[in-house]
Amino acid sequence: MADPVSYSTHEAVAVLRIQNPPVNALSQAVRQGLADGMDRAEADAAIKAVLIVGDGRAFIAGADITEFGKPPMEPNLPDLCTRIEASPLLVIASMHGVSLGGGLEVALGAHYRIAQPDAVVGLPEVHLGLLPGAGGTQRLPRLAGAEKAVDMITTGRQVKADEALDLGIIDKIVQGDPQEVGLAFAQELLAQDAPRRAVSDLAGAEPIDWDATYEGVMKKGRGQISGGAGVRAVQAASELPFAEGMKRERALFAEMLASDQSNGMIHAFFNERAVSNLPELKGVAPRVLNAIGVIGGGTMGAGIATAALLSGLDVVLIETGQEQAAAARGRIEGNLSGALKRGKITQDKFDALTKKALVVATDYATLGDVDLVIEAVFENMDVKKEVFGKLDAVCKAGAILASNTSYLDVDEIAAATSRPSDVIGLHFFSPAHIMKLLEVVVADKTATDVVATGFALGKRLGKISVRAGVCDGFIGNRILAHYRTAADHMVLDGASPYQIDHALTDFGFAMGPFAVADLAGLDIGWMTRKRKAPDRHPEERVPTYIDKLCEQGHFGRKTGEGYYLYEPGQRASVPNPKIPELIAAEQRDLEITPRDFSDEEIVRRYMCAMVNEAAKVVDEGIARRPADVDMVLLFGYGFPRHVGGPLKWADLQGLDTVLADIERFAQEDAWFWQPSALLKTLVAEGRSFDDLNRASAK
Ligand code: 3HC
Ligand code: NAI
Repeated sequence: MADPVSYSTHEAVAVLRIQNPPVNALSQAVRQGLADGMDRAEADAAIKAVLIVGDGRAFIAGADITEFGKPPMEPNLPDLCTRIEASPLLVIASMHGVSLGGGLEVALGAHYRIAQPDAVVGLPEVHLGLLPGAGGTQRLPRLAGAEKAVDMITTGRQVKADEALDLGIIDKIVQGDPQEVGLAFAQELLAQDAPRRAVSDLAGAEPIDWDATYEGVMKKGRGQISGGAGVRAVQAASELPFAEGMKRERALFAEMLASDQSNGMIHAFFNERAVSNLPELKGVAPRVLNAIGVIGGGTMGAGIATAALLSGLDVVLIETGQEQAAAARGRIEGNLSGALKRGKITQDKFDALTKKALVVATDYATLGDVDLVIEAVFENMDVKKEVFGKLDAVCKAGAILASNTSYLDVDEIAAATSRPSDVIGLHFFSPAHIMKLLEVVVADKTATDVVATGFALGKRLGKISVRAGVCDGFIGNRILAHYRTAADHMVLDGASPYQIDHALTDFGFAMGPFAVADLAGLDIGWMTRKRKAPDRHPEERVPTYIDKLCEQGHFGRKTGEGYYLYEPGQRASVPNPKIPELIAAEQRDLEITPRDFSDEEIVRRYMCAMVNEAAKVVDEGIARRPADVDMVLLFGYGFPRHVGGPLKWADLQGLDTVLADIERFAQEDAWFWQPSALLKTLVAEGRSFDDLNRASAK
């Protein structure tokens, strides 16, 4: 293996070249290499300047995240940055690709910074539940001012080179080989006898309204705390001498690193990448994808077509009649004009996508050349079977036939064709061109290269793809049905839907379950309850108060009335006064005496229901690993990233306490709260869900 940091001399300049693929993370070996390189350069009387560059695709992507949680190893990063800055030699960083987190902090320790035009810099630690911990919160505000530093540190956003130049973060942009332009800059500085400029010598940033800024960041964070810690660290940079500010940053960093939130977010970072790495797909070539078909251009079909078009695929969309076809085209064009307005595509691109790449038709024969079809027609088995029969007849050999069904049995759909090995579920989430999750539902007979193609398509569309097995609702909707039921039970027993929504958004969910129900349409749940009623277990508790609202034609947001009332043109919603009356009537019918629930109990019951069903989903092999469930909830269901996912949450709570609560709840309702066998085994063996994740990664 190459030296993590190579050392070479070029006249009076020593070059420290970081070679730690893929992204030059600052592992212990890299930190040591940089420190040794500085020592060596300083010991050589012929050397007047040091140039730090990265090999490969980035300058430095930051601290090595795999080292977090392990015992610290010298040299530590803040000391290294200080050591670089204190060097008697002139130190220059030449940046290309990304310079993130510790990567930017190393560069800020240098005396001059030069960057490629397409370079980006940023302090993304907040996305890991952290704040910059190697001087970033102290040096950045000294260059860019407190307001900009707070913005970058609390949003973690990546800043392009030209903005970084305006902000004073870099000194110069020059296109070329990073080492060559860096050396030329170094020679230029030496020729001018340019001074060593230590950022720490600059005055602290002008103060801003720290408390208001802190409050604003905490509010946006929906329970995430590291953004607020970032504000306080920048405040220290303004109020304290540099060395004191560094101490404050270090203390806050250590506090965040020890928190459950950073544990959860680091879990999310690694698993959003690991989830699509299936051992069985190693070396399996996906089938070629140039054009795809979409059947049905309603909410989902239009979203899927939009995503495919934006990724460069040609799309043939089939609708039932001219009117539906025109409506489908309108939806897709509406989605694409959103992308146009946000500057994601140009007008020329918009024209090309809508006029050339998209064909909307009513004749299935138009699908003859497509490589993969995604069916998104009504959620009805008979309709789906009929569609798959037609697809089987018109699609070329080797074309993949996929269904976007939410709940239905993909094996049964596959059996309606003569090529079940080419059939797969590709379950998108609404709006499909925006939501990141894709469940790749593998049926009994699905061929491995078809699964590989599902994942390749997901990657091309920019999705987080998760393998799921066949069952009612796959991973996400099956678990959703269960925790949603727990919320319904709490309503019957006395918690109001509004208290529940509030408690869960306070916990960090993007929306509470009742606001979500209004958004999705109350008719969906109503139809499902009717469909399931004949086979219902006698002990199953199902509230019917909301059906009364549906019977009056109120289906939530789309009709203006549901759990909440929606005024046209107004974003805020208010509780519907009919709901408490309907609930009270049902409680009287069922002879339930309502009781009080604390917010804490609401969250606990909701989460325990989620964990219990999730454990069953893992146990049955519907999800490959606990972390796969976590990623489904994170990317498809608005689960707070700073909690890491329901099974990460369970690990952090302690599985024994979660199981004890489930068993306690089972004393009231043994049918609903049947503890998962896997959960019991893990508790008995003193193991965690993360132990299962690690075991399957080997
Ligand atoms: N440490 C360890 N591994 C890292 C890493 C890091 N900082 N950054 C990326 N990797 C790994 C990824 O896990 C992935 O591994 P895999 O191939 O085994 O899955 C591999 O590098 C490639 O990463 P991506 O697939 O994400 O490649 P992309 O090209 O899509 O993205 C990136 C590259 C923009 C650098 C992206 O990986 C990224 O955002 N990384 C994290 C950057 C970050 O958060 N830096 C701050 C770290 S915390 C810090 O510096 C603390 C300091 O202030 C003290
Ligand atoms: P929708 O009702 O908005 O759209 C269905 C479209 O299919 C209609 O435009 C209809 O004209 C068309 N269609 C019906 N039969 C057809 C046929 N034989 N040939 C061609 N087109 C036909 O429904 P939506 O919400 O888009 O759902 C579609 C599928 O996606 C369902 O299976 C649903 O369960 C699933 N799904 C829905 C999600 C959602 O949030 N709406 C999320 C994920 C999956």
